[in-house]
Amino acid sequence: MSLKRISGSLFALALLLCLVAAGLAAGSRRNDRPWMDRGLSPDARARLVVQAMTEPEKIQLLSSTSVNPDQPLPLAGLIRGIDRLGIPAIKETNAGLGIAIPFRNGHHNTADEATALPSGLAIAATWSPDLAYAAGSLIGSEARAKGLNVVLGGAANLARDPRNGRNFEYAGEDPLLTGSIVGEAIRGIGDRHVISTMKHFAVNDQETNRSNLNAVIEPAALRESDLLAFEIANQRGHPGAVMCSYNRVNGTPACENDWLLNRILRKEWGFDGWVMSDWGAVHSTARAAQAGLDQQSGVEWDGARYFGEALAASVKDGAVPGRQVDEMAQRVLRSLFAAGVVDDKTPATLADSSRDAQLAQHLAERGIVLLKNSAGLLPLAPDIAHVAVIGGHADIGVMSGGGSSQVIPAGGPALQIPAPAAATWTVFDPSSPLNALAAKRPQAHVDYASGDDLKTAAALARTADVAIVFATKWEAEGHDSGDLSLPADEDALIDSVAAANPKTIVVLETGNPVRMPWKDKVAGILEAWYPGQGGGEAIANILVGNTEPAGRLPITFPAGDAQLPRPEIPGYTSSPGNPIDVDYREGAAVGYKWFDARRIAPLFPFGFGLSYTSFAFHDLSVTRSEVPSVSFTVTNTGLRRGSAVPQLYAWAPGADGQVTQRLVGWRRVDLAPGQTERVDIEVPPLLLAGFDAERDRWQLSETAYPIAIGASAGDTPLTASLPVAPRELPP
Ligand code: BGC
Repeated sequence: MSLKRISGSLFALALLLCLVAAGLAAGSRRNDRPWMDRGLSPDARARLVVQAMTEPEKIQLLSSTSVNPDQPLPLAGLIRGIDRLGIPAIKETNAGLGIAIPFRNGHHNTADEATALPSGLAIAATWSPDLAYAAGSLIGSEARAKGLNVVLGGAANLARDPRNGRNFEYAGEDPLLTGSIVGEAIRGIGDRHVISTMKHFAVNDQETNRSNLNAVIEPAALRESDLLAFEIANQRGHPGAVMCSYNRVNGTPACENDWLLNRILRKEWGFDGWVMSDWGAVHSTARAAQAGLDQQSGVEWDGARYFGEALAASVKDGAVPGRQVDEMAQRVLRSLFAAGVVDDKTPATLADSSRDAQLAQHLAERGIVLLKNSAGLLPLAPDIAHVAVIGGHADIGVMSGGGSSQVIPAGGPALQIPAPAAATWTVFDPSSPLNALAAKRPQAHVDYASGDDLKTAAALARTADVAIVFATKWEAEGHDSGDLSLPADEDALIDSVAAANPKTIVVLETGNPVRMPWKDKVAGILEAWYPGQGGGEAIANILVGNTEPAGRLPITFPAGDAQLPRPEIPGYTSSPGNPIDVDYREGAAVGYKWFDARRIAPLFPFGFGLSYTSFAFHDLSVTRSEVPSVSFTVTNTGLRRGSAVPQLYAWAPGADGQVTQRLVGWRRVDLAPGQTERVDIEVPPLLLAGFDAERDRWQLSETAYPIAIGASAGDTPLTASLPVAPRELPP
């Protein structure tokens, strides 16, 4: 036998022995660790782990630290793993609009970069739950590729105030739209074996004084508005975690709120994951634990380590039953098993950055909303000779919003400038609209003026066939806007350019609605939100007509602050830190519902958005059944392909008897010129119901509800009456 063959046989024998040893080890590990049996339910597995845990190990699971310099990436929260039990470390990062690794003193490492998606409002403006799912799936994949297993993404607060500095992270003002978009993003994250965190539960609807704010609102109205958004998101997405918010709700801190956490979230909605606090939102040990808080996040942010030794002490002195701590640990572990975090420790295949970049751009394109287009100025004529691009750093990139959701975009920020009134930076994502436009109109002169000097900008505009002004307004976590105006110099810039050239188009990069005193002076308006790292390309594609403007507003654009339920943000001018009550006396009449009830005409209504073609809706019919439905026909009456977003509204009384307009369904329909499609929409009875707080039940009180199909909340020409059997809805 040759030496080569002998060594080959020895190698095979050694391999066999290794496999046998590995098999035995796995078998014995299965015996030592019965919770590793994937055939058991997540609940059973979590229970088995809890039985094997020491008390300090349980307590360890119930708080996270924000100080983790030993980690490859700075984490928002870290809970160390329990090696002896095979429980991995829990690594939490922000990820509403992409994986958001914080800057390291203004700098970053390449590994901190991630795909910067458009803002939440932009994704909501697609009115596409499928695209929201795709965004979630991208976030989940990138999280896993970075070795992270919990993302603090799934923000479902309603945009009750269009000046809230975090609205850009959220999905607008309607419970159905928000719940559907956020729920699908959560589902997309979960399908990548990453836990998502639905937040900020609940009524953290302004940033001003968020830690000292008491949200005062009728419980029934709350059920029909903010909580309905969370309820729908929870049902569609099944998040593994929920984050309770900074504020109080009707006098009780959200993270100590038995009604919110135990009664509604767990008992009624069947949420079976864990509740973590927002960073710095815990005020007690026993009270919070008994009210349903499972985990104190970023303990360094709170006044004390409420869930560390203090929790152990509370168990000892009987203030918190030991069984309670078991349940808290069990809920954390259950989500780890349910999401596959324990079983599936290997990172997913590396995130595919070019595919992710394409999706970021596609989301931006589908979410950009065309608000005005006089005389068909857009799309720009193919033979246009001279375009003036002005302002907004359009030569460099596109604006993004600030705070914990800030993503460091792939390739690094295009520009970082000191942020207004905050010790941080305004980040511009790469992708310059100017360069993208120039590339798509190579025969045209595309010139740029910064807009710093009004005269230079006007002079350039005067010589051009079309002037495009980029106006930006930065919004960020921790701050609200004092009013709806653009920064004053930008209004003045638009005025001067429009005076010099009537063919002026304004492209807005904003995190919220803005006032537009110049609306009648300009020919076109495009709301691009914060469009993410593919934003420049996306804007240019829409301007030249490579892509249709497909977005519809997920939030009402008021004509001014005086139209709002609270013309001033409560506490905005008083000293920060003073406790305040915010009286949400509009109840469930949030956004367009308020405008409808008061018969006020906004600047642009919820649901609005123009297309490069036109549509007609006709032949509405209704079907009475347990789940009633409507059907109607949509026709593309224009000359280009395009997608209509017909919206179905109903008018139904809430618990307080006040009738509110409610979005109860919609559809996206892509049609060629002249094409027609019949569309069916089912109406979930919950969306017509009022919440009877006394009986703790949803109630359908009417025999018929007025309904209408239209292109926006303010344009609902096709009307009917929807017959329904009055009844109590099952809990
Ligand atoms: C924010 C959360 C965020 C957390 C961790 C808080 O200030 O409100 O949305 O997830 O910080 O960074």
